[in-house]
Amino acid sequence: MLLVFWFAPESMNTRTHNGNQLKQAAAEFAASLVEDGMKVGLGTGSTASYVVEALGRRVAAGLRIIGVPTSEKTAEQAKSLRIPLSDLGTHPQLDLTIDGADEVQPGSLNVLKGLGGALLREKIVAAGSARLIIVVDESKIVKTLAEKSPIPVEVVPFGWPATQAKLQALGCTPALRVGATGEVFVTDGGNYIIDCAFGPVHDPEKLDRDLNNVIGLVEHGLFLGMVTSVVVAGSNGIATLLPAGA
Ligand code: A5P
Repeated sequence: MLLVFWFAPESMNTRTHNGNQLKQAAAEFAASLVEDGMKVGLGTGSTASYVVEALGRRVAAGLRIIGVPTSEKTAEQAKSLRIPLSDLGTHPQLDLTIDGADEVQPGSLNVLKGLGGALLREKIVAAGSARLIIVVDESKIVKTLAEKSPIPVEVVPFGWPATQAKLQALGCTPALRVGATGEVFVTDGGNYIIDCAFGPVHDPEKLDRDLNNVIGLVEHGLFLGMVTSVVVAGSNGIATLLPAGA
């Protein structure tokens, strides 16, 4: 793993910064890597929304990009900022995607995503990108994936209890995701999410294979071998993590 400490912005020189300032600092740095003419995947979540905000400012200042959003929410934000949007049908190969994550494992740069519910489109857009840059604050760095968060699994609504039972048989405690008022959470693709508490996952590749064999599962939140770099903002500044051996 290569760790490059890049800079400590003025706003991060004291210990008074909060999580949102760190997210914003990582996001601003990643947005500065976007070059004129790029086709850019736009992630989802609070950190990714800072990226979209920063890109909106750059577009207003003359940057020409085409954005491909990973959720309806991001599309709405990007439209409000007049970022030109397209889709993977028109642009199947993107230069870069910038997105957030819920957990990042340094070294492998495997990440866990989907607590925001957009994992399916996020993974499809990432898979169509030459580079995937993840932006996080330091609280997202973990030793072992899934040690803090459940693994979100998107399933088709039809027969979901049967799919949930198959997930449970893989060794997790599953919970159908519901909204604040108790209604079932429905993704942009019209599916449900089952949050699967596995505890720390020491062999994510095996779990990836096992999950992908579950009938009724659409996609899951382990993004393995997809990330090209991670921009982390912490109390000491901003670091860029590269995969081990890079
Ligand atoms: C959305 O589905 C997620 O993958 C988000 O990218 C992830 O949950 C990170 O979100 P925050 O930046 O809001 O923590």
